[in-house]
Amino acid sequence: MSSSPFYITTPIYYVNAEPHLGHAYTTIVADVLARFHRLDGREAFFLTGTDEHGDKIMEAAAKAGQTPRQFVDRISGLFKALWPRLNIEPSRFIRTTEEEHVKVVQRILEIVNDKGEIYFGEYGGWYCQGCERFVLERELKDGLCPEHLVKPNWIAEKNYFFRMSNHQEWLIDHIKSNEGFIRPQRYANEVLAFLKEPLEDLCISRPVSRLPWGIPLPFDDNYVTYVWFDALINYLTGLHWPHGEGYAKFWPVAWHLIAKDILKPHGIYWPTMLHAAGIPVYRHLNVHGYWIMGEAKMSKSLGNVVQPLELMELFGADAFRYFVMREMSFGLDASFSQEALISRLNGDLANDLGNLFARTTAMIERYCQGQVPRGLPAGPAEKALKDWAAETVEIYRTEMGRLNFHLALKAVWEYVNNLNRYIVGNEPWVLAKDPRRKPELDRVLRNLVFGLIRVAYLVWPVMPATGEEMLKRLGTALVISEQGLDYILSSAVDPKGFQVAKGPAFFPRVEAVERKDREEKPPVAGPPPKEPVDIEEFARLDLRVGLVVDCVKPEKSKKLLVCTVDLGEEEPRQILAGLAEHYDPEQLKGQTVVVVANLKAKKMMGLESRGMILASVDDRSVKLLKAPKGARPGTVVR
Ligand code: MSP
Repeated sequence: MSSSPFYITTPIYYVNAEPHLGHAYTTIVADVLARFHRLDGREAFFLTGTDEHGDKIMEAAAKAGQTPRQFVDRISGLFKALWPRLNIEPSRFIRTTEEEHVKVVQRILEIVNDKGEIYFGEYGGWYCQGCERFVLERELKDGLCPEHLVKPNWIAEKNYFFRMSNHQEWLIDHIKSNEGFIRPQRYANEVLAFLKEPLEDLCISRPVSRLPWGIPLPFDDNYVTYVWFDALINYLTGLHWPHGEGYAKFWPVAWHLIAKDILKPHGIYWPTMLHAAGIPVYRHLNVHGYWIMGEAKMSKSLGNVVQPLELMELFGADAFRYFVMREMSFGLDASFSQEALISRLNGDLANDLGNLFARTTAMIERYCQGQVPRGLPAGPAEKALKDWAAETVEIYRTEMGRLNFHLALKAVWEYVNNLNRYIVGNEPWVLAKDPRRKPELDRVLRNLVFGLIRVAYLVWPVMPATGEEMLKRLGTALVISEQGLDYILSSAVDPKGFQVAKGPAFFPRVEAVERKDREEKPPVAGPPPKEPVDIEEFARLDLRVGLVVDCVKPEKSKKLLVCTVDLGEEEPRQILAGLAEHYDPEQLKGQTVVVVANLKAKKMMGLESRGMILASVDDRSVKLLKAPKGARPGTVVR
C-alpha cells in the first residue's frame, strides 16, 4: 500500500439549473473515492463547486428576474446545501465568482499571453449556447448541435485566441504514452480520433458589450474570459495555486471526474492550456456514462413519477448512494428506475446486510447479555472466514482503484452472504440449547461480530452514516489508520468484550417507503382563498381547449406574447398572454392550452385580446396549464 496523497475533483456545475441526479452521481463518486483513499491510509482532498459565469447564467438570471449576482448566489447555495444531505463532505466548495479564482485565472492568462500563446483575430463560427462553445462544422449533425439538438447561431466577431493547435502533437503523444491518462480507454480513443484532424485555435474571450458577466482579460478590459477557460482553472485555484501547500502536495496526483458530455474541454482544452502555461498536467481524467431516466417504468409501479433526488429524501442518502454506486458500471450508461432502487434496497440492504446485522446482534443480546465473548481459540471455519476477509479486502481495493465500484461492492456482498451462510451452517440457536456447547456458540458469535466490523469499514466509503452507526452499535468506532485497510484484518478490530446493541432496522422495507411516497408536497404559500362561488356562477365561464397555432413577441412590450389560438371556430383568435418573461414564442407554438373563451375583448398596447390563456402562478414560476394530450381545439373544459 502506498501512502501518496490523493486529489479528486468533480466538474463545477453550472448554476443555470437546480441540482439533479447527474450532478449528485458524480459528486457521490468523488466522495466515495476520497473516503476510500482515506480509509486506505492516504491523505485525500476533494474539490467540488459551481461554474457561475457565461451566457447561459446571464440568461437564466434574466429569466428569473434577478441580477446575475443574486441568481448565482441562490443556485450555488442549493448545490452547497444538497451535499451534506447526501452525506457528501467536500474539502472545499469553490465558486468561480470568488476573488481568489478571478486572480488565478487572470494570472494564468498573463502567463500564457507572455509566452506568445494568445493572439487577437477575427472569427466566425457556429456557437451553441448549450455547450457554451463554438461547434465545428464537422461536429454538427444535420446542421444541429449533436448534444443539444438545436441549430447553433452564426457569430462573427474579433476575439482573443489561444494557440491550441501548437500543442496538438504533444497531446497525442502524451495520451498515447500515458496509459489511463484518459480512462476508460474508449474515451481516450474518442479524443485521439478527434485529434486526427488539425486542431483549431481556441477562442478564449467574449466582448464585454455582448457578455458583461465574466472575468475581465488582464490585458484588455473590453473582453471577458471565455467561460471554459475560466472554469477549468478552478482545479488549480482549489489548491491555492501557485504557492499553496495543497497545490504542491495534491496537484501531482490530480484525478478529474466527469461524464462523457464534457470530454472535449477536459481531454483537449485543459491539458493544452496547462501545457502552454508550463504547469504539469493532471494524472487521470476519469469519464463516466450517463444516467438515463426510465420515467415510464417509474410511473407504472407507483402511480406517480418521483424525481431521483426526491427518492433520495424518502429512502435515505446511504441507500441512494449504494444504489447508484452498485448499479452503474463506470464508463457506461445506466438507467435509473424506482423499481431497481427498491429492489436493491430490499434485497442487498434490508435482506442481506440488514438481516445479518439484526440476527447477529439479537443473538448476542439474547445469549450473551449484549457482550461479545472473550478469549476463545479459532477453529478451521474461522480461519476460512479470516482468509475470506483478506481476499475481499484485496478485491475491494483493486476494484475501487480501477473505478469498478460495482465489483468492489459485489465482493463485499459476497462476504456478507458468506457470513449469513456461516450462521446457517453453525445454527447458533441449536448450540444455545446445550450449555456444554457454549464455547462453540461464543466462538460463532464473536466471529460474526468480527465480520460485521469489517463489513462496516468496507461499506463506509459508500454508506458513511450506516458504517459509522454499525460500528457504534457493535461497541466500537471508526479508526482511520495509517495501516490503511489492512487495519481491519488485524487483531486491533477484534471485538472481544464489546458491548453490542441491536437497535432499530437499518433499512426500512419498501412497504413503508411506498406509503411515504404518496405524501403530498408542501403547499405553496399563495394569496388567501377567495370567496365561495355558486356552481352557476362558475358555469358562466366558457373554458375551452385551444391550440396555439402561432405566437410572436411584440417589440413594444416586455411581458406580452401575441398568440393565435384555434378554438375550433371558423377562424383562430388573437389572445394576448403575459408570458413573455417565462416562455419563448417558439415554445408556445403547437401547445394545447386551456382558454377562458368568453372573457370580454380587451385592448392592451393597441392590440386586441379575445380570451385568456390559463397558467399556474406562484412566487417562483409561471407554467402553462396544458390540456390533456389529444384533446381537440374547442373541447369544453368544466
Ligand atoms: N460547468 C460545466 C463543467 C465545468 S468543469 C470545469 C458543466 N456543468 S454541468 O452542470 O452541465 O455539469 C455536467 C456534469 O454533470 C457532467 O459531466 C456529469 O458530471 C454530471 N451530469 C449531468 N447530467 C448527467 C447524467 N444524466 N448522468 C450522469 N452525470 C451527468 O458542464
